[in-house]
Amino acid sequence: MALDDDIERVLWTEQDISKRVSELASQITDDFTPSSSPPVLVGVATGAFLFLADLVKHIKLPIFVDFIRVESYGSGTQSNGAPKISFDLKLDIQGKHVILVEDIVDTGRTLSCLIAHLESKGASSVSVCSFLDKPARRKVQFELVGKGKFYRGFECPDYFVVGYGFDLAELYRNLPYVGVLKPELYL
Ligand code: PRP
Ligand code: MN
Ligand code: MG
Repeated sequence: MALDDDIERVLWTEQDISKRVSELASQITDDFTPSSSPPVLVGVATGAFLFLADLVKHIKLPIFVDFIRVESYGSGTQSNGAPKISFDLKLDIQGKHVILVEDIVDTGRTLSCLIAHLESKGASSVSVCSFLDKPARRKVQFELVGKGKFYRGFECPDYFVVGYGFDLAELYRNLPYVGVLKPELYL
């Protein structure tokens, strides 16, 4: 397949991902069981779409699902550090426990912006469930709200990854695994 030919190395296979995602879902199920109101899982478009879909299938609790989108304005492909919400929630999250579902935390700017936004809408706690975490690239420390927790799938080495939601110029998101592209494709 042409898409596979562009991949130099696979970091997490479909099986690795599926195992880790069900572990995360079990942790969330355990942590939120006594909660009075179903938690709201908010997927961050576009990257988190597959992770959110897989995760919710394994959560054995009533939950709400919603989406939000953030865009970073500025030149070219680099964020200027001032993300703006461009597509907001449908649900009212006042007094609710919210779990932000992300594909990756990189500089932390997207998450910081989103957490502040959800807190301003009255969420009683904000947790984060990120499939990958790249702590080496962090510029901004995000703070959870209330008794929010941080769940992460894997720590990501400092490579540019594609697949399982991750894109290069909006392509490769549909690969069922996470890999690194051949360098000639992005250098
Ligand atoms: C990527 C990724 C996270 C964010 C992380 O999204 O999906 O949402 O950047 O970066 P940060 O921690 O440095 O803010 P992107 O803006 O590429 O949009 P996409 O999800 O539509 O690909
Ligand atoms: Mn994203
Ligand atoms: Mg992207």
